[in-house]
Amino acid sequence: MEYTVMLPAAGSGRRMGAGENKLFLPLGGEPILIRTLRVFEEDPACRGIILAVRPDERERIRKMLVEAGIQKAAAMPDGGEERQDSVRACVRAFIEGGGDGGSVVMVHDAARPFISRRVIGELAVSAGRHGAAIAAVRAKDTVKQVHGGIVESTPDRESLWLVQTPQAFRASLLSRAEEQAAADGFLGTDESMLVERLGHPVRIVESTYDNVKMTTKEDLAIGEVLLKRLEEEQN
Ligand code: CTP
Ligand code: MG
Repeated sequence: MEYTVMLPAAGSGRRMGAGENKLFLPLGGEPILIRTLRVFEEDPACRGIILAVRPDERERIRKMLVEAGIQKAAAMPDGGEERQDSVRACVRAFIEGGGDGGSVVMVHDAARPFISRRVIGELAVSAGRHGAAIAAVRAKDTVKQVHGGIVESTPDRESLWLVQTPQAFRASLLSRAEEQAAADGFLGTDESMLVERLGHPVRIVESTYDNVKMTTKEDLAIGEVLLKRLEEEQN
């Protein structure tokens, strides 16, 4: 199933504490951003990449794309204050670029370079069929609902999933969800929340635990280990 991917890359990486956008940091000698982009560049089902960037980083990123041979970046809109604003900018760029509302689009954090082709493929098929599908893994730990330092309840672990990106949607549905959230001043922590608000069912695709988001220095260390393992698997 073909799809277009939208990559929000306009953050500041505050929790990484590198003093610049964490996506420029090297992982196995190559910027995180390029590693994520390459997954989609090399996937024949990916028709195009829309990348939300900070205006002051656009030229640097453009050069990096040329050097790395990334050719599918069809648009690079300005990101916004919040991640949701950056994703909305991508959705608008997709529509303005003549994107088909009936086609599948996928939102993926540029900071998650370890996404697997298997999960991407299953998401695209599920979103094409049902309209909305998100990557998630089963909770390994028991989760407590806590108020004021006191445990209130223990949700049944069987029903708990930890959500990642990619999150895939029929383009018209995501666009409607984004515009409705903006009109209502609603800020969600993922795209699924915005679609859930419209009452549309969202399906789960079981993902892998190594699809970690590079958020703090510890994640970079984990990333280096994952890369080594992947290289060993290939040899
Ligand atoms: N992002 C974005 N626009 C924003 C904020 C975040 O495009 N205004 C992007 C980031 O570049 C990242 C993804 O959304 O690829 C996930 O966000 P997160 O991991 O929180 O990255 P940052 O916001 O950069 O990091 P921090 O929250 O630690 O500052
Ligand atoms: Mg952030």
